Order: sequence, then C-alpha cells, then structure tokens
Amino acid sequence: MYPIIVKAIDWVNGRVRWLNTNLLPHQEVYEESDNHEHVARAIEGMEIRGAPAIGVAAALAVAAAVVNASTERVDELRSIALKAIERLSRTRPTAYNLFWALERIKSVVLIQYVDAESFRKAVVEEALKIYREDIETNIRIGEIGEKLINDDDVILTHCNAGALATSAFGTALAVIRVAWYKGKKIRVIATETRPLLQGARLTVWELKKEGIPVTLITDNMVGYVMYKGLVNKVIVGADRILLDGHVINKIGTYTIAIAAKRHGIPFYVAAPTSTIDVKSKLSDVKIEERSVDEVKRVLNKVLITVEDVEALNPAFDITSPDLVTGIVTEKGIVTPPYLENIRKILIS
Ligand code: MRU
Repeated sequence: MYPIIVKAIDWVNGRVRWLNTNLLPHQEVYEESDNHEHVARAIEGMEIRGAPAIGVAAALAVAAAVVNASTERVDELRSIALKAIERLSRTRPTAYNLFWALERIKSVVLIQYVDAESFRKAVVEEALKIYREDIETNIRIGEIGEKLINDDDVILTHCNAGALATSAFGTALAVIRVAWYKGKKIRVIATETRPLLQGARLTVWELKKEGIPVTLITDNMVGYVMYKGLVNKVIVGADRILLDGHVINKIGTYTIAIAAKRHGIPFYVAAPTSTIDVKSKLSDVKIEERSVDEVKRVLNKVLITVEDVEALNPAFDITSPDLVTGIVTEKGIVTPPYLENIRKILIS
C-alpha cells in the first residue's frame, strides 16, 4: 500500500499522542497526554489542527479520560466523559469533524453498561474506530481524487490539508500523494497561508519529506501565477461543507476560488463525508475569530505593525458552490447541483 510517513495523531497505551505542529518545520516534537484538558488546550493553541485531526484527537481524549479515571462506577465514568465532551466541543467552533466525532462518542457514552470495564471498552473502541476510519477514508479520497490528476499538472493547494491535518495521509494532499505514487509527473504550488503559515511550515515540510516537487508562494501571488498559466488545478481541504455546497475552509480559500474561476482553472475540494454538516444553514455557521496578535505579529513573536492598530483575524472563509468544480469524498466525486448530489452521496 502507500507509505504513511507521519502520524499526526496516535493512541499509545491509553494516551493521546500528537505531533506538535506549532514547532514544525524546525522541530519534530511529539507530545503525549491522558488528560482531556491538556488535549483541549493543544487544539486551541494549534498544536493539533486541521478538521479531521481535531475530531480524532478529541475522540481519543475522551477515551483517555475514561481509561485513566480511578472510579469503577459507571455513572461517574459517564459524567467524566460528558464533561470532557463538553470541554472539547468548546475548543474550535468551525471544524465540523470535531462535533461529528464527539457526537459519535456521546452516543456510545449514553448507552447503559453493566460495569465500568464494558463502559471503558466501548468508549475506547469507538474512538479507535473513528481514528482508523479517518486513515482509511483519506486513502480512499486519494484513490478517487487521483483520477482527476494528469501528467504535468501543477496543483495549487492552500493551508495544510495533509497528514498533519488528519490522523495520517491527508485529504487534498492524499489526492496529490496517490497521483505521485502512481508515477504521475506533478508539481505543487503551496500558498504560505498567513497568519499562521500552515502552507509554508506544514504543507512544504510534508511534501519535501516525500520528494514531491513543491514551490512556495505568498498568498498574494495567487492571481499572478494563475494569470501566467503556472497552475492548472486547485485542490483544497474543508472545515465544513453545507448540504448546498458552500465550503468553509482556511481564510484565503474564497479569494483563490474566485481567481480560479476567472482563469478557468478547476477548483476541487477534498474532504471526508464527516465534514458535511447536513443540519446547518449558512447563517448558523460560526466562523472562528482568533487573536489579532496572530495578524500583528509573525508567529505570535515579531511585531510587524503599530502595536495598537485594529486588526481582524477570521480563521476561515466561505466559498460559494458556484465556484466549486467538484468535491472529492471517500464515496465519490460530487459535482453540481450540490443540494441534490450531496444528498445522494450521503445515502449511497
Ligand atoms: O486553522 P486550521 O489550521 O485548523 O485550518 C485548517 C484548514 O483550513 C484545512 O484546510 C481543513 O481543516 C481541512 S484539513 C484536511
């Protein structure tokens, strides 16, 4: 099969293990914890990031909380699990996989159990199922999406929808990986992705590790590289997809989609069906606003503007369905009309 070069999230002896993505590309440091509060802070602080990774880590954190609790009473274990679920659900508001994963764990937590052992076993099994399914799903997305890629394609991607945003393998980068492993001669253009530089720090690191040719650009070069004909496909990930095809993803995605449309470049989104939010309307979606220090400083350190300037820091934007050529899921590629075709793929 395909090599798994990095496991951003893992489960080791009843503890959650994660690669601290804040320290990349300079340091490869793995953290471990059996404490859900520690994992919640790692998600808030972006050590763990990317919608599927957040969901898997949160599910495993609830499992770690019940495995390591000292009580043998089922009601007490249930209360510990529900508190952990509630805390973890408040970490990041936009990534739908977080709520999807915690909902799955919650439905297992609420079943009646004869003893603490069967309770713990059920919660751990569900969390591990979510974790393993994530890797299998990503490989499937790669295999399905690879068919869209041709020899000599230059593919632009934004932020990091790679192994570092999932348990392993990635979504948008899964498509690129499978195409590469199948011998297609492709190149990638990665946008740096201000303010937290996930493209420059993470996407470039991942692709270089596997020898996949990648060129880094700043976010404001997208229009120019498209105008010059240096890109012929765009593939990005998603934090949330609505039934009508609206795609919520890293800030800057919308601008790229508009530029792609202007230049007749296909714009694809690669995401598991667990990113599809069938309940919310656009007006229900909360776009995370992060600290403006992330904008005013480079990587929260060097101040690059006037200290007291007002700034904005929405972490995500919304791309309307008319700009999206297709959505690659583990069940197939969905094309417009989205309302009809997303419904169809979900029940297939
Ligand atoms: O703020 P981040 O780094 O968590 O944002 C990540 C993204 O926007 C990704 O594109 C998205 O989560 C898909 S990851 C497979």
